[in-house]
Amino acid sequence: MTQIRPQPFIRPLNIRKREARVQPEGLPVIDLSFNELPFAPNPSVLEAINRTTAHANFYGNPSCEAVRTALAQHYALDPEQLVVGNGSEELLDVIGRVFANSESEILISEYGYIQFPIVANRVGATLVKAPESHYTTVVDALLLCVTGRTDLLFLANPNNPTGTMIPASEITRLAEHLPQRIALVIDLAYAEFAGGDYCEKMHQLVNSHDNIIVTRTFSKAFGLAGLRIGWLHAPAWMIPTLYAARGMGTANAAAQAAAIAALDNRDSTNDNVTQIVDERNRIADALQRLGITVVASQANFMMVASPENSEESATEMAAHLFDDAGLLVNQTRETGLEHFIRFSVSLPEHNNRLIQSLADFIQSR
Ligand SMILES: Cc1ncc(COP(=O)(O)O)c(C=O)c1O
Repeated sequence: MTQIRPQPFIRPLNIRKREARVQPEGLPVIDLSFNELPFAPNPSVLEAINRTTAHANFYGNPSCEAVRTALAQHYALDPEQLVVGNGSEELLDVIGRVFANSESEILISEYGYIQFPIVANRVGATLVKAPESHYTTVVDALLLCVTGRTDLLFLANPNNPTGTMIPASEITRLAEHLPQRIALVIDLAYAEFAGGDYCEKMHQLVNSHDNIIVTRTFSKAFGLAGLRIGWLHAPAWMIPTLYAARGMGTANAAAQAAAIAALDNRDSTNDNVTQIVDERNRIADALQRLGITVVASQANFMMVASPENSEESATEMAAHLFDDAGLLVNQTRETGLEHFIRFSVSLPEHNNRLIQSLADFIQSR
């Protein structure tokens, strides 16, 4: 008998299974697979969270006014051009639903962040990938892929999982040559780790174009991943439409309070970023000395190749790190990246463990 079921209008997404085995040596498991910050929030941020959770019977402010005011002061932006959401992931989805539908093409760079295909799937758009060079976005390749159906271009700088980025001058060139009817989204989730005035330049692009949106997050440099809060900066004309697509109370009260406190603790964020960048450079040097190919990262995570440049040895490398040192890393399974693993840059003791375990792995081959 044929079973009659409702017709879904979205392709199913298989959620990847995480490591379910017990660590064989009984070591503590250190999860380096989510590009998180290893430092806990500092006391004033924790105090802001606790203060809010004591009043959890009240909703958070739906338009996140105080967060927007704090962001506007911190980054010298117009608060009326900012929208706060449940992580920048939610805002990428909001943008996708506003600017693309089943007639659209969504353009991304070849190894672009996994959420971009997920958003394209949700809205039924056709995903178009522009080829990269050395795991890095190529602006001319993106421009060559533009068609009359391209409605949205998502670009993460630095990108996840590659960790690479292109200079601000290249994004400016992209902005100049891209037809103005295409929404260009610049995802700066990791930009604090890239240093310099990159973010300021990207915000200036928003202010000088009607089609550019910048997304940012408190999950990475600010270390608030578990609370889920991110934001976007868009031209004023887009804001009411973006609100129409966003849930009403998506950024919870504790996340809002924590974000404001984190912005007040600028020095602590800067110190954390400096430590991660120093460790990133130290790990890169150590792994290169072991003969491991390291893709130059501008973020708080790194993508490195397996010794034989094969998916099989990447699987063995990830299994070795778990079995030998209790380190959980991410196997990049995207087409063309199967021979890499990706891991967060963590505390020096965790990073030492990673370097030592990889040295043993290489030596055992
Ligand atoms: C490139 C990129 N953009 C956006 C996000 C989403 O971050 P969140 O939803 O925590 O703000 C991530 C998370 O890993 C990411 O890698």
